[in-house]
Amino acid sequence: MSRPEKLRIVVLISGSGSNLQAIMDACADGGIDGEVVAVISNQADAFGLERARRAGIPAEVLDHRAFDSREAFDRALAERIDRYRPELVALAGFMRILTPDFVRHYAGRMLNIHPSLLPHFQGLHTHRRALEAGHAVHGASIHFVTEELDGGPVVLQAEVPVLPGDDEQTLAARVLEQEHRIYPTVIQWFAEGRLRLDPERGVMLDHEPLPEPVRWPARPETSPNISPGR
Ligand code: GAR
Repeated sequence: MSRPEKLRIVVLISGSGSNLQAIMDACADGGIDGEVVAVISNQADAFGLERARRAGIPAEVLDHRAFDSREAFDRALAERIDRYRPELVALAGFMRILTPDFVRHYAGRMLNIHPSLLPHFQGLHTHRRALEAGHAVHGASIHFVTEELDGGPVVLQAEVPVLPGDDEQTLAARVLEQEHRIYPTVIQWFAEGRLRLDPERGVMLDHEPLPEPVRWPARPETSPNISPGR
């Protein structure tokens, strides 16, 4: 399904912005029928801001330390975001706990990437915890954001094998590679109108409720049950 106009996306970051890069690249090469209209970071030194500027995309800093409450910061953030009239807000390594009002304001139009196979390892240090738990398979998830931290309905997950000798860094790098594959994919599903969040029925993909997240396996010979796009 083609859109009359490109999907307007605001990306929120706190750090390196490699997922932002994957999203911008997909917008540039036609993988996403969309446009990153602004990037906002709560950290002034986030490298992702530089990535945005290089791509000619407005990049703004809103430092949470300048606000006396989480609510005040989130109100100011929403005001900044809404100036760009986004249809989708993509959290890409945005390391903030969000207030309920903020989350409700973007209900059904805010996605997050989390570096684990949710519901495993919500919160921080996911790679270390996967190693400590002795999991043989780890991965990343894209989910709609709800008021429960890292608890919103999951759309797509990529599995990654945990290999003998892995440490936090090697495992993180293997997961990140998959993150760059699944985030643009899900955003394109949203841009095409294939994906939405129904208040009663949950995640809808191609007009059907999604009974469980789509899983892309680690083994390339096993084909995914849903194609990346049309
Ligand atoms: C990514 O691994 C992302 O999944 C994670 O932060 C990293 C950001 O990397 N997000 C979270 O942990 C959110 N709870 P990037 O800045 O290079 O995209």
